Amino acid sequence: MLQFSSLVEIRNHTEALRRQGLSIGFVPTMGALHEGHLSLIRAAKSQNDVVVCSVFVNPAQFNNPDDYRLYPRLLEKDGQMLAQEGCDVLFAPLAEEMYKHKAKLTFDFGDLERVMEGAHRPGHFNGVATVVSKLFHLVAPHQAFFGQKDLQQFAIIQQLVLDLNFDLELVCYPIIREEDGLAMSSRNRRLSPEQRAVAPRLYQALQVLEEKLATQPVAQAKEETEAFLAAFPEIRVEYLEVVDAQSLQPVEQVEESEKVALCLAAFLGEVRLIDNILL
Ligand code: PAJ
Repeated sequence: MLQFSSLVEIRNHTEALRRQGLSIGFVPTMGALHEGHLSLIRAAKSQNDVVVCSVFVNPAQFNNPDDYRLYPRLLEKDGQMLAQEGCDVLFAPLAEEMYKHKAKLTFDFGDLERVMEGAHRPGHFNGVATVVSKLFHLVAPHQAFFGQKDLQQFAIIQQLVLDLNFDLELVCYPIIREEDGLAMSSRNRRLSPEQRAVAPRLYQALQVLEEKLATQPVAQAKEETEAFLAAFPEIRVEYLEVVDAQSLQPVEQVEESEKVALCLAAFLGEVRLIDNILL
């Protein structure tokens, strides 16, 4: 596996690959890789000649300085895992070079970012859109792979690609979970054993909500699911939403939309986790 940190080097390399007529599958990450990330690497590999993975803890998308400071950084181990999966190129730039020129451009995705993650993490999607645009220009992939775990992020990036005519195909893959249902996340490493023990309740709450929605109106189903979660004092729910899976706007009745997503964000201590299921 090749490894680059310099922007010029990755661009030269991917340009050469394109000239040779090879297809490039790209998986952007912030590292501390787990099976969720690796499922995207495998998908990229099965559909492309060459796989590029980026590992970059993007300072621009963290609205909480402690979350940025404490985000796990395990580049050496990540490199080993990627090499084992047959990833061809690891791109791990430095913040100093990625943000050599402080970005002045800001993104506003309208209604798409007025809800859920966008509403609770000011500036987050601006940082995501900035870094993903930079990465798309540097890597120039034919396909880019993302997880449903970050459902709103995928919707934002779809809009970004449409609005700016990025010449690539976006692919979304399902959430990979631990055996007890907890959605895999790099932040799970920061959970204490007690928090880790209660964390699967988040996914369970989404399942409870799904079950209740079969017979109850949205407002009542949400209320009862919040009551279910309130029984676990370690969990502080930030939001629990029933939204249209495309527009991400809240729905009052499940029948209103073709596809509905149940989304939640919650704190366990200082660690903020998100999860969702699609109906
Ligand atoms: P990160 O959180 O590292 O996630 C990288 C990719 O892995 C994202 O597309 C995410 O949705 C996917 N992913 C995370 N957990 C997953 C799981 N349990 N199952 C399946 N896929 C999962 O998302 C980011 O990084 C950043 O915002 C980034 C796009 C790299 C921009 O900085």
